[in-house]
Amino acid sequence: MPSAEPVRPVRPAVATPAHQRAAVLHGPRDLRVSDRPVPVPGPGQVLVRVAAVGLCGSDLHYYADGRNGPNVLRQPTVLGHEASGVVLATGPGADRHALGTPVAVEPAHPCGRCAACRSGRYHQCPRGTCFGSPPTDGALSERVLVPEDFVHPLPEGLAVREGALVEPLAVAVHAVRRAGVTVGDRVLVTGAGPIGLLVLQVALAAGAAAVEVSDVSAARLRCAAGLGASAVHDAAELPPGPAATLADPAGFDVALDCSGNATALAAGLTRLRPGGTAVVVGNPTSDTTALPLAWAQRQEITLTTAFRYSAGDFPAAVALAASGRVRLAELVTATFPLEQAPQALETALTDRDQLKVLVVPGRSPAAGAATTAKEARS
Ligand SMILES: NC(=O)c1ccc[n+]([C@@H]2O[C@H](COP(=O)([O-])OP(=O)(O)OC[C@H]3O[C@@H](n4cnc5c(N)ncnc54)[C@H](O)[C@@H]3O)[C@@H](O)[C@H]2O)c1
Ligand SMILES: [Zn+2]
Ligand SMILES: [Zn+2]
Repeated sequence: MPSAEPVRPVRPAVATPAHQRAAVLHGPRDLRVSDRPVPVPGPGQVLVRVAAVGLCGSDLHYYADGRNGPNVLRQPTVLGHEASGVVLATGPGADRHALGTPVAVEPAHPCGRCAACRSGRYHQCPRGTCFGSPPTDGALSERVLVPEDFVHPLPEGLAVREGALVEPLAVAVHAVRRAGVTVGDRVLVTGAGPIGLLVLQVALAAGAAAVEVSDVSAARLRCAAGLGASAVHDAAELPPGPAATLADPAGFDVALDCSGNATALAAGLTRLRPGGTAVVVGNPTSDTTALPLAWAQRQEITLTTAFRYSAGDFPAAVALAASGRVRLAELVTATFPLEQAPQALETALTDRDQLKVLVVPGRSPAAGAATTAKEARS
């Protein structure tokens, strides 16, 4: 059956060199940009010329500590899992994407055969791998190999660099779907980092009538207000309190915690209307968190969780970004060339004013370090 997707002009394959530059993590705060062999696409794989890679919390955990939760760096590994680029070459049988197609890269690759995969929960595949999660190499390099089913074509009008933000946008799409946000809902988002700011925008796109946002950072709250939050609150204004006194029939329909902070989760939970829904999106820092469960039980609160993205979330994220209802470029606060990947990681780790730092492998080191969000659009 012919593909419904528009066929893009096939650009001639460019001769691929034997080696490429890649940002390889050797240990805590020891990231080296060095030569690596250019991989050759095998059956069902495409080689993507990387246009941009966004840095996020898990990259920073590996960079700062050599580990992210239970996963420990035991061998030099290329970091980076939020990537976009252009299809440069295809392996045998990989015929879904024409050469030259701009794509967002879905970085987590399930086995496709286990019970989780077969039930549609492919993001929970126990045998899956994810770019930039040691020992699996990531995308902080000039080119990266991807199974053809895990690259998502970017429509006209969406800058290829913005495609790097489709991955965190897919996290937000999944979280809002898990929350069941619907037309007219009043939503509270605790935590206005990149994930919270994307959840804010996706909730509005899903029909929420009002989305309020809390954070401890005034700068991030200003950003939330600029992206459509109906009200912003210093986190101190949302105390968890004795739950019973906060029970408010006019409370929020949905609260999504995007901070990972237990106090914020409890504060959101206790601001729900009876029968409301709380979603754990931010990674809790502890397995045991005190929550007002007796109160939640009396109010018939639904407490649920969201992990990454699964079937349909990536295509929905691409479509949302293309629709213009979600602004991605405004989250980009700095861009660095690949040769300056160590400075990019250091900046993302230490500069609290940064939201999303991008590494753009196609950009020459001579062009300097941080650039504006406007330039990242190009
Ligand atoms: N569910 C998933 O699959 C998934 C995917 C990606 C990231 N995450 C997690 O989501 C969270 C957010 O990611 P991010 O990249 O936006 O991180 P981030 O650190 O940039 O954002 C977290 C925000 O929470 C704010 N915050 C801290 N304490 C708070 C409080 N008490 N009340 C309100 N806000 C508070 C911080 O100031 C910050 O702005 C992280 O925990 C991250 O690990 C989860
Ligand atoms: Zn990420
Ligand atoms: Zn599987």
